[in-house]
Amino acid sequence: MDAREMKIKAAAAALAHVEHGMRLGIGTGSTAEEFVRLLAEKVADGFKVEGVPTSERTARLCVELGVPLKSLDELPELDLTIDGADEVDAALGLIKGGGGALLREKIVAATSGRMIVIADESKLVETLGAFPLPIEVNMFGLVSTRIAIEKTASRLGLSGALSLRQSGDGNFTTDGGHYIIDASFGRIPDAEALSTQLNAIPGVVEHGLFLNMAALAIIAGPAGARELRATR
Ligand code: A5P
Repeated sequence: MDAREMKIKAAAAALAHVEHGMRLGIGTGSTAEEFVRLLAEKVADGFKVEGVPTSERTARLCVELGVPLKSLDELPELDLTIDGADEVDAALGLIKGGGGALLREKIVAATSGRMIVIADESKLVETLGAFPLPIEVNMFGLVSTRIAIEKTASRLGLSGALSLRQSGDGNFTTDGGHYIIDASFGRIPDAEALSTQLNAIPGVVEHGLFLNMAALAIIAGPAGARELRATR
């Protein structure tokens, strides 16, 4: 089974948790897109959902495939969000934002009664941090914000390159009009402390640590999909 087949397995298993009439947060990334494709088939057969997309990219795919969308302001409280992740640990702590959609993903997940993460088993880790942590920052004061992130990391014993994400000829810009700094810490032993301290930096808009947010992870491997619940 190749990586795409595993993503489809995870997405299909997640679809079983979606009930007729639900208000659904729809994630971003290649795994979430497999979910959108399967959901669209069900919608074409008469299944009713109202989706809130977590990115312009996901919105475009939903429109193309006929998945009904609303804005978060129209549906400010959601039943369930289904989204991918870049890393998943045993407590269902996540690193997200590899696709640059972390801010909307976090806003949408936080307003949902439940969040289910879908991933192939390559995303499972013992300790978060091998995947560079995306930190969304305001364009104003970029250099100061970067220094503040460095100091915060150093207080927590973390080090590693902080790279301003690039795209094409320039800096990558998020749907919200911000930049992303990818922090290659390697290992983040105290993700709670890092999360709190990053959020205290004014120029940091959000970061990709999603802690205590996912209720369930559906992880697909060659033998099929299995469900992981948080061990906390
Ligand atoms: C998007 O910003 C991310 O949070 C994605 O959910 C994450 O990068 C996983 O993407 P893939 O499913 O493509 O690996």
